[in-house]
Amino acid sequence: MAKKRIFSGIQPTGNLHIGNYLGALRNWVDLQNSGEYDCFFCIVDYHSLTGDRSAKERHDQISMTAIELLAAGIDPDKSTLFVQSHVPEHTELAWIFNTITPISELERMTQFKDKSAAQKQNVNVGLFTYPVLQAADILLYKATHVPVGEDQVQHVELTRDVARWFNNRYKKYFPETKVLLTETARVKSLLDPEKKMSKSLGEGHVIELADEPAVIEAKLKKAVTATKGGADAPGVENLLLLLKEFGEPALVRSFRAAEKNGSIRYGDVKMEVAHAIGNSFASFREKRKELLDERELVADILNSGAEQASEIAAATIEEVRRIVGVR
Ligand code: TYM
Repeated sequence: MAKKRIFSGIQPTGNLHIGNYLGALRNWVDLQNSGEYDCFFCIVDYHSLTGDRSAKERHDQISMTAIELLAAGIDPDKSTLFVQSHVPEHTELAWIFNTITPISELERMTQFKDKSAAQKQNVNVGLFTYPVLQAADILLYKATHVPVGEDQVQHVELTRDVARWFNNRYKKYFPETKVLLTETARVKSLLDPEKKMSKSLGEGHVIELADEPAVIEAKLKKAVTATKGGADAPGVENLLLLLKEFGEPALVRSFRAAEKNGSIRYGDVKMEVAHAIGNSFASFREKRKELLDERELVADILNSGAEQASEIAAATIEEVRRIVGVR
């Protein structure tokens, strides 16, 4: 029987952070290593055009993202790792999907509303049809499973809808895609723990996988803990979550107990979290440094990834062209 197929993507918009890691990347590596899936991981550079970055920044970030994915354990012998724009069928399929997607459905997307509010001077059409390109990414490979963080669930649901609209209008062709969430599908910002951790909020809000231990410590020192009201502070919950993910379970239990009896010292929690994260990514930092000197190898990996992806993409798009009647 054919293996189940996984597709997931990441924008080349900055160094990877622990939100990307806990919500998606760690799961990608586990799923890849389980041997149960045929895995496609894509650096979605066309999606990133909807943001405000310069061409130079984007160009640099594409290879940096590839380097970091490899350093974190994506293995090109087990997975297909490639750049979206290297496989032009993504945008062709997105166009076809544009013609079956109701505007009203895209207007509901919370990420469109958030991003439009965050970049008021640049509310472009690409930002609006962003989830349609995402549906094309996934369905071009007829992926059955999509491992992402919680913020992407609505987009994966839209992908199922797009498949259904297509199948109803033309013929049953695309599969129903399922989302795969991790236990920690939503990591919060250090400085504004009501919001998800995101590079777009600013440097101090995120811990990057590449941050040196001293940087992690400095960022955590400034992390928001107890808010005015005190109880159920989301900043504290976020720190304990990070400790659970990266540190010793016994430590989490003892801090939980200290929280109950009021003896908790947030400075201690922060130091433990800093150590745990710094240690967890020591080998990542090493591998990343090595790969920074291996640019050609990284380019070769992306080229052969694009070749593998193209084989499937070309076959799908040829069938789709026939199904919709342009061939
Ligand atoms: P992007 O680049 O914003 O994020 C990449 C992955 O990291 C997850 N993530 C988080 N998870 C938990 N907590 C956080 N604070 C956090 N921040 C980010 C995201 O959920 C995502 O899984 N639209 C997508 C990219 C994309 C894609 C696709 C994904 C394009 N095409 C097809 C899956 C399938 C995005 O902007 O992810």
